[in-house]
Amino acid sequence: MSVIIKSAEQIEGIRASSKLAAETLKYLEQFVKPGITTLEIDRKCEEFVRDHGAIPATKGYRGYKHSSCISPNDVICHGVPNQYELRDGDIVNIDVTTILGGYYGDTCKMYFSGVVSDYAKRLVEVTKECLHVGMAQCKPGNKMGNIGYYIAEHAHKNGYSVVYEFCGHGVGVKFHETPDVPHIADLNTGLVMKPGMTFTIEPMINAGKARAKIDRKDGWTARTIDGKLSAQFEHTILITETGYEALTDVFHDF
Ligand code: MF3
Ligand code: CO
Ligand code: CO
Repeated sequence: MSVIIKSAEQIEGIRASSKLAAETLKYLEQFVKPGITTLEIDRKCEEFVRDHGAIPATKGYRGYKHSSCISPNDVICHGVPNQYELRDGDIVNIDVTTILGGYYGDTCKMYFSGVVSDYAKRLVEVTKECLHVGMAQCKPGNKMGNIGYYIAEHAHKNGYSVVYEFCGHGVGVKFHETPDVPHIADLNTGLVMKPGMTFTIEPMINAGKARAKIDRKDGWTARTIDGKLSAQFEHTILITETGYEALTDVFHDF
């Protein structure tokens, strides 16, 4: 499969879906506190997305049954919503992908449940910076690998590791399009960016070792092998004639 260069019409559809995905993350803020289960948050997510005329893209995707991925603490990504009750001091990622008018918007961010340690806050802050360091590489003519090169440089400089088993991805007309967008890569490798490309950047940064292990019971939840914390932020990016636009950056809060 080759990279889809989106038409003006497709871009407007992806923009609208991305905006709704961002609004969903904003709506969910009020619910993230000690005592709520991740399943209850997922229900709020599904309700909001459907009330706005969209479908949660994860529901039924490769057998996944929920409307979001909710990943606390040592969960790297693809956390399956369940009966786990958030505790005071948890950091938690919520990842939402909407299908609106047939178009996909994909975004995730970190939330704090109660009062969080400075140790955890620093990981979250540096992970947010990693997303922005990656976004700064987005312009026509630049190579995709440079996104991952500079993300990894920033993470390593801060004493963290970069998850390499999951990548960003083309998005918009389908959920996961070509190309993969690695968050650790060699300089000046990969495809050349072109106007009309839409893809995600979604670095997962670990406080300890980079490796992930998948929960054997649910088949999805990916955790750090050493039980240390992991954080992630994700935007859907459009390459423009002069640079990029982050289509899910509606509230400018990450
Ligand atoms: N939204 C995730 C991403 O950023 C994908 C979740 S797929 C699921 O690519 F099946 F785990 F939900
Ligand atoms: Co994604
Ligand atoms: Co996502």
